[in-house]
Amino acid sequence: MTRTPVNVTVTGAAGQIGYALLFRIASGHLLGADVPVKLRLLEIAPALKAAEGTAMELDDCAFPLLRGIDITDDPNVAFDGANVALLVGARPRAKGMERGDLLAANGGIFTPQGKAINGHAADDIKVLVVGNPANTNALIARSAAPDVPDDRFTAMTRLDHNRAISQLAQKAGVGVEDVKKVTIWGNHSATQYPDIFHAEVAGRNAAEVVNDEKWLAEEFIPTVAKRGAAIIEARGASSAASAANAALDHMHTWVNGTAEGDWTSMGIVSDGSYGVPAGLISSFPVTTKDGSFEIVQGLEINDFSRARIDASVKELEEERDAVRALGLI
Ligand code: NAD
Ligand code: LMR
Repeated sequence: MTRTPVNVTVTGAAGQIGYALLFRIASGHLLGADVPVKLRLLEIAPALKAAEGTAMELDDCAFPLLRGIDITDDPNVAFDGANVALLVGARPRAKGMERGDLLAANGGIFTPQGKAINGHAADDIKVLVVGNPANTNALIARSAAPDVPDDRFTAMTRLDHNRAISQLAQKAGVGVEDVKKVTIWGNHSATQYPDIFHAEVAGRNAAEVVNDEKWLAEEFIPTVAKRGAAIIEARGASSAASAANAALDHMHTWVNGTAEGDWTSMGIVSDGSYGVPAGLISSFPVTTKDGSFEIVQGLEINDFSRARIDASVKELEEERDAVRALGLI
């Protein structure tokens, strides 16, 4: 039986993450090796030609799963019938720009995109916001789409989750496949809290295996939380291939489910769990099954974790208040 192609919309398609993402979507790494896809690439007018160049290269790969590529600068066209939307394009902070300017500029991107999703996307739409500030951009898009359920809007903290797994595996001297149940709490920013108190290393509690609070507080947490800045410093450009990889992981896990005995981290609309105010888009430990996710409940939060979760949530509240003051939500 020939499956109906899934419509996948990618914004910022001509950017560096887009270039690392599109070829892997078309070769089956987003949804699976048996799922055909149609790509819709959204770009701003000056970047349409570059997006066309990428589309030419996609054609030249002769991917059997790729059933079409549309390129547009109109969000209403880009999101028409979209089943999956990866919102990558965002306004980077320019020299002299205040935080309010940055949030306002992103409001000009994510409000129309949220409206277009509301008006034109398929009923089963799943949205992942990658463009920074990812949690608050997701909040803006979410607010502009009142007819779409809360649980369809997510923000990416999977890159932080993957970074945390890798750092912990190196410290414990095990393979990444032996690390489970790491959690990223809060914002995709330097205030995020990578939590290993519930994580497992080869079936044992990770905090006990590591047994080194100084490493945890002074090395692990800052390394994960500031990794994005360290990559920019080293590469002269922000993470691209690892960010694209995390976007594929996020959506693949959402659609196909978490493994038994493990969970992932996703920025999702809070229902008030763990004292995170309802409505904020904050990262939580989640399990996924049949295209839905649930927050992992009942985890004991110690004082060390509580203070760090609260600090990141406070930053999210400040970002929310700023976009509210700008009339964006
Ligand atoms: P980039 O500058 O290379 O590409 C961004 C693209 O977005 C550009 O081609 C630009 O033309 C396009 N764009 C701008 N406004 C648009 C609009 N209104 N509609 C459609 N496209 C638009 O940037 P990049 O390296 O690809 O990064 C993209 C975003 O992802 C940045 O905001 C970056 O900070 C963020 N990021 C997030 C994570 C994460 O973990 N959440 C990780 C890495 C990067
Ligand atoms: C990352 O975590 O690598 C990025 O969010 C960094 C950035 O500012 O683009």
